[in-house]
Amino acid sequence: MPTARVGCFVAERKRRVAGRPAKTGSQGPARASRTSRAADAIAERKQAHLDLCLREDVEALRKTTLLEEVDLLHDAVPDLSFDEVDCSTRWLGKRLRAPLVITGMTGGTGSAFEVNRDLASLAEEFGIAFGVGSQRAMQKRRDSGWTYEVRRFAPTTVLLANIGLAQARSMEIGQFAELVDALEADAICIHLNVAQELVQPEGDRDFRDGTATFRRLARGLRVPVVAKETGCGISRTVATRLRAAGVRHLDVSGAGGTSWVRIEALRGDRAARIGETFRDWGIPTAAGLLGVRDLGFEVVASGGVRDGLDVARAIALGASLAGVALPVYQAYRAGGVEGARSFLQDLVDGLRTAMLLTGSRTLADLRRVPVVLGPRLQGWAAVNGPRRTPRGRA
Ligand code: FNR
Repeated sequence: MPTARVGCFVAERKRRVAGRPAKTGSQGPARASRTSRAADAIAERKQAHLDLCLREDVEALRKTTLLEEVDLLHDAVPDLSFDEVDCSTRWLGKRLRAPLVITGMTGGTGSAFEVNRDLASLAEEFGIAFGVGSQRAMQKRRDSGWTYEVRRFAPTTVLLANIGLAQARSMEIGQFAELVDALEADAICIHLNVAQELVQPEGDRDFRDGTATFRRLARGLRVPVVAKETGCGISRTVATRLRAAGVRHLDVSGAGGTSWVRIEALRGDRAARIGETFRDWGIPTAAGLLGVRDLGFEVVASGGVRDGLDVARAIALGASLAGVALPVYQAYRAGGVEGARSFLQDLVDGLRTAMLLTGSRTLADLRRVPVVLGPRLQGWAAVNGPRRTPRGRA
């Protein structure tokens, strides 16, 4: 779509948001204004999060993803040309040119729309998947739905809707259609962020019925459900429970990258004290992958994935795709669309380089490459991996 038309569209939508009162249905004026204040508070908080991601060090302090403890066996005679290396894959019924997803970050405001539009356009250009940020704002203020509507910028690729488990818990099945339809999504991510909520002064404190909610959604939704962490990882035990509830897709989003506990710590006094204590909380991304690799999920590896070699290591540990959030956002803010484009190109080039160096023509070949695991990762695998029994693995 030409830039001028996009500009007109945005201006028209902005007028609608600013000029038209939010739909109130049968709510009285007092309730409507409470809902509107809640929507403003969410928008402000989301903006503060985005600003902190640019200004501060918001990643884990000492903990790493442990992807650096995954060595791939070098192939000195690969018998391949670089052009033959094919990193395409299928995910959620669509073909992707690289096993990558820009994971959910934003939505709800005019500037968030611009981020979604530009990153979704890049996802289409690269043939990779794209997720919007939490659509909670859309529930509070329905006419902000347009800020998530990116299908026309990414007509062919995989798009992911997004809502928190805390909200999903109290939503009727029919309400999910609105979130999915806003972007004609191929699946919906239900994000998990217990640690962040606990550190956030205004965050949720009641986490009951989580597994039951996943069971209800897996049965009732017409699109697949992705259980998605946000930087603390998903253990083997939790994954096993989710599998029994009918979930088939995970984004392990492990520790070692963006720390939402740290981001909340930067927002307030009480949060600062408890948040610094728990800044590095969670299961390192590589340890999360090892824990779920034999459970039959389609797995996204996110949380601290920063270059193409990380992507290759994640795929070698069984991931279907790798996901990135913070570095794409930072590259976009620092260098605009061109900045984000060169970051993504580096990811793809790095992955293809690792594939050639391991003699892998396809991603299936890469998954068969022998890996050497470092001691800390082996320690995690002993606790969070398949249990060894006298007769093999359980
Ligand atoms: C996020 N993340 C996120 N996740 C989610 O499910 N819903 C959301 O609304 C957001 N919002 C958000 C905003 C920003 C600015 C960032 C950087 C991240 C979490 C994200 O999708 C991912 O799981 C983690 O950030 C870990 O990946 P990185 O950032 O280490 O690559």
